[in-house]
Amino acid sequence: PQRTYVIDEMISAKSIAARIEALAREIREEFRDTDKLVVVGLLRGSFVFIADLVRELDLPVEVDFLEASSYDNAMESSREVRILKDLRGQIEGRDVLVVEDIVDTGFTLDHVLHLLGSRHPKKLKTIALLDKPSRREAPVRADWIGFEIPDEFVVGYGIDFAQRNRNLPYIGKVRFTGEDVPA
Ligand code: PRP
Ligand code: MN
Ligand code: MG
Repeated sequence: PQRTYVIDEMISAKSIAARIEALAREIREEFRDTDKLVVVGLLRGSFVFIADLVRELDLPVEVDFLEASSYDNAMESSREVRILKDLRGQIEGRDVLVVEDIVDTGFTLDHVLHLLGSRHPKKLKTIALLDKPSRREAPVRADWIGFEIPDEFVVGYGIDFAQRNRNLPYIGKVRFTGEDVPA
């Protein structure tokens, strides 16, 4: 069965863009002396955020991706983080910024930070567009956070519900309506 839902706008495309500009200024400052910053997007959710963020970073940047998945199509975290695609490049001795769309239970980011930390980067920092601190189970917090949000089911700007709605230009919250319909 598939539940029917509507999406209410929660964070507009404009506010996201403004927030990214401010975050980019702080990141530029933190890494101002870098020879090269490796910006690592966690697929798939971060693909929109990383695209907008790197274009605001006036730094020498390498873009790399790591695919991690713990939700598949479920609404509940499986608490088991699968690495489906590893980085292309080496990060030993490098400045690294991990880019996440949302930190919920924290299992994904915690797992990825342990994995990347074991490769001995020079500096390992994290940014998440959204943070849901009330849901945290793993002890992790991003160094930069775009917006702290309440425990709502959100979609858009890269974030999916059963692989849909990633292409919305804003962050919306899912409101379930009516009865379940057959998929
Ligand atoms: C989502 C989201 C984060 C993670 C956050 O990814 O993009 O990566 O869950 O949840 P957590 O803090 O509870 O671990 P998902 O596993 O759905 O994969 P996706 O990015 O491909 O959608
Ligand atoms: Mn993800
Ligand atoms: Mg997902």
